[in-house]
Amino acid sequence: MGATIPRHRLFSMRNTLVRALILAIAMFTIGGIFLPPDVDVRAAILKTAASAREAMTLQTPISRPESAGWGPGGEPVEQDADGEGAEPTISNSSHVMTCGYDMERLRRWQELYGLEETFEYTKRYVQSSRQDIPRKSVTHLDQDFLADAVKVVDVNRQYQAETCPEPLVAPVTMSPFPATANASDFMFGVSTTYKRFVDIRTSPINEWTYWLTDGKGNSNGGKLVLLLLDATDDELEDAYSKLAKVGIDVDVYRSDPNLIMAVRYLALAPRLYNHPERVNKKWLVVCDDDTFFPSFNALADRFAQYNHEMPMYIGTFSEDVNNIQRHGSQAFGGAGVFLSVPMAAIIAERFESCSSDNKIRESDTGWGPQGDIMLRMCIYDNSEVRLTLLNELWQLDLFGDPSGFYESGIRPLSLHHYRGGIWHIAHPWHYTKVAHACGEDCSLQRFQTADDFIISNGYSIAYYPRGIDFDLDQFEATFRPAPDDKGYNLDFMMGPQRPPLRKSGRKIAWELLEANVNEDGSVSQVYVSKRNDGRWTNGDGSPMNNRDGIIELVWLPAE
Ligand SMILES: *[C@@H]1O[C@H](CO)[C@@H](O)[C@H](O)[C@H]1NC(C)=O
Ligand SMILES: *[C@@H]1O[C@H](CO)[C@@H](O)[C@H](O)[C@H]1NC(C)=O
Repeated sequence: MGATIPRHRLFSMRNTLVRALILAIAMFTIGGIFLPPDVDVRAAILKTAASAREAMTLQTPISRPESAGWGPGGEPVEQDADGEGAEPTISNSSHVMTCGYDMERLRRWQELYGLEETFEYTKRYVQSSRQDIPRKSVTHLDQDFLADAVKVVDVNRQYQAETCPEPLVAPVTMSPFPATANASDFMFGVSTTYKRFVDIRTSPINEWTYWLTDGKGNSNGGKLVLLLLDATDDELEDAYSKLAKVGIDVDVYRSDPNLIMAVRYLALAPRLYNHPERVNKKWLVVCDDDTFFPSFNALADRFAQYNHEMPMYIGTFSEDVNNIQRHGSQAFGGAGVFLSVPMAAIIAERFESCSSDNKIRESDTGWGPQGDIMLRMCIYDNSEVRLTLLNELWQLDLFGDPSGFYESGIRPLSLHHYRGGIWHIAHPWHYTKVAHACGEDCSLQRFQTADDFIISNGYSIAYYPRGIDFDLDQFEATFRPAPDDKGYNLDFMMGPQRPPLRKSGRKIAWELLEANVNEDGSVSQVYVSKRNDGRWTNGDGSPMNNRDGIIELVWLPAE
């Protein structure tokens, strides 16, 4: 294709931080020091504080005293031999709601999520109310989340259907739906291995379907240029047909295995620039196979505000100041690096000098040559352009429990590092399904009910049995930076974080493990909590809930 880029030159998996951190962890292990366990000095102090608090709060009546926070429980009525159960509920929302016990589904979830055979099951409908209002981080509802006693089911029995309570009514903005996103101005370059592409644990196909199609098999105009390492001709063909089948406009190439990782990464920019469809594009985007754009309409709106006719280099830092100290001040690629076409032209023209042996050596901060650094050097050495920070993009160099991030009420423009390994595990493809029912803005938006539940829409439902008396505008520090936690690593990006509530008896959460768009346009969300989850314990270590539980929320289609 392009003059500067021999075919099959590019490659994948340059994830610099993963490499750096694996190395760091290996070094720590050799030195006999491993990452500190979850329980640290801070947690110990908190524990003391929690016990003091407990002594105080014992005086006041707690609305749901059973097992220190959840309940009271009940059992649904067992079905008669010939019982068909109740009629579906027709609410004033005009949609049919059914509150039966579909034992086949319940048993599937029980097996899939490793629950005990007897568990709590609560189903609640939510009707979004689209209004001309700004997006709020937390919206207060005057309804209770729990309409009835919590029901306990045994997967080996059958139960009569019940009448559904009126839906929760959630005011949301009139934000666009994912299916209407127009990504025509963008071309994305991603490199990975064929193995990662097809492995069910790492395959990005579902995620790409969310932000590169209308969800009905049609491209949204966004172009994907995929480079696969270690792929045979058949495998390239297979990757192409899998993506084309779901409607993604993609070109698939084989990477050049002879180049070092950092150079393969830098070469993505000229690869995109030399693509024949570049003439119709404004933004050429280099990202990872685990970069996710949850709100493409909002992303496109944001980029419409930048001048694509100027050379521009747009991205974000790692949120861990250690990583900036270590690697320098540049866009960290997993969050997405956005280059205007004139910017990519400069990189394409200077590619040979930017990828010289000297530059490779210069980009080695002691952790091996870094593609992100090579890209920054190439731009800074050859132009006056400097990075434009867009901090709604997130690199997510976080370790441990990510809930404090996903429960913060923000509307991120990108997400990264959610496939586990040394990073966190999250399911953004499932989290964002609800946007099909209530619009993009309502993903991860928070709704606080009168009985002290907070729905972080798509991520979790949390119950705070001792009330919500902390600042919801601050991130809960459930996660930590690594390997060196100075206590303030993340503050420049997130602000200081409030102490975590785990193991304090003050919070128990059900976290989303799957969501489905139903035929009628409603979206079902399955939130799961385990009795033995070490986070949801009282100060004395006893579990806050004596049973596993599922909460199913069904978002009715917007009216
Ligand atoms: C149904 O009607 C009740 C009473 O008029 C009202 O409070 C509630 O908000 C309505 N629900 C919906 C989903 O419109
Ligand atoms: C999408 O955006 C492109 C470029 O900005 C524009 O030409 C096209 O008309 C848009 N498509 C739709 C369906 O709005």
